[in-house]
Amino acid sequence: MSETGPIVARTVAAMREHVALWKAEGNLVAVVPTMGALHDGHLALVKAAQRDCRRVIVTIFVNPTQFAAEEDLDAYPRGEAADLAKLQALGADLAFLPGVDQMYPDGFATNVRVEGLTEVLCGLERPVHFGGVATVVSKLFNQSKADRAYFGEKDYQQFLVVRRMVRDLDIPIEVVPVPTVRESDGLAMSSRNVYLSKEQRAVAPALYKVLSGMATRMAQGETASAAITWGRAALDSAGFDRIEYLEVRDAETLAPIDGATRNARVFVATHMGETRLIDNLAV
Ligand code: PAJ
Repeated sequence: MSETGPIVARTVAAMREHVALWKAEGNLVAVVPTMGALHDGHLALVKAAQRDCRRVIVTIFVNPTQFAAEEDLDAYPRGEAADLAKLQALGADLAFLPGVDQMYPDGFATNVRVEGLTEVLCGLERPVHFGGVATVVSKLFNQSKADRAYFGEKDYQQFLVVRRMVRDLDIPIEVVPVPTVRESDGLAMSSRNVYLSKEQRAVAPALYKVLSGMATRMAQGETASAAITWGRAALDSAGFDRIEYLEVRDAETLAPIDGATRNARVFVATHMGETRLIDNLAV
């Protein structure tokens, strides 16, 4: 454990001073964008970054532009001291903690829109979400000038959107995916899991069980539509209030898949009370 903890930078200029020094020393720099409330899923990204790069920046910013008006921006869990302690334990080099004014100064007017990939799955019910994500992530990439960026497969569609944006806009950064970290019962770790009541928490692992069951069925030759029919029934009887989507899509393009299972991925979003849970799994 480092004794002093990560450097805390709250402005772009402060972060760039350090990045410039590191690059002058010839070191690779990684960035791990987060919204804080750090858990072992986030920390897996930091560890993956540390394996590849000498210097690791973790950004913590609850980005208002990716939440719709009725969503949980105000309730979103925040805890700077606990987050910094976790980063200190790992030996992360720098925490970037910008204020909203730093990220969106008066007159801010730009929105980055990635077509196609953002119009399915999570994009259908959250039409402003991925515009907010692409905009803030492109800013974080430009601000940090990092060489590599680490994203969790937990938010697989987000990873694809960011990778597409980087290619389309020639942003000089490599986007690296990291496998989903799960609780021992299979539930994907998420900052939003703290919203779950004890009863809801007991239902939640069914998501991963259903995804695994569908992946197994398809690997054994069942069609996607048959697997989805089975999965919907299983989710209904598990006790979710609503299934937002349960779909099988191509892992690169997100095009729907039925017969052939090559490169297929299963995607799910459900609701319990106010809480929305998502997960996905390769077939
Ligand atoms: P946040 O939800 O805090 O997630 C930050 C990063 O951690 C994302 O890349 C996400 O996929 C990854 N992550 C979350 N849970 C994970 C898990 N259980 N296993 C592996 N990785 C996991 O995603 C965002 O923030 C924001 O949209 C952001 C990219 C920071 C832009 O505001």
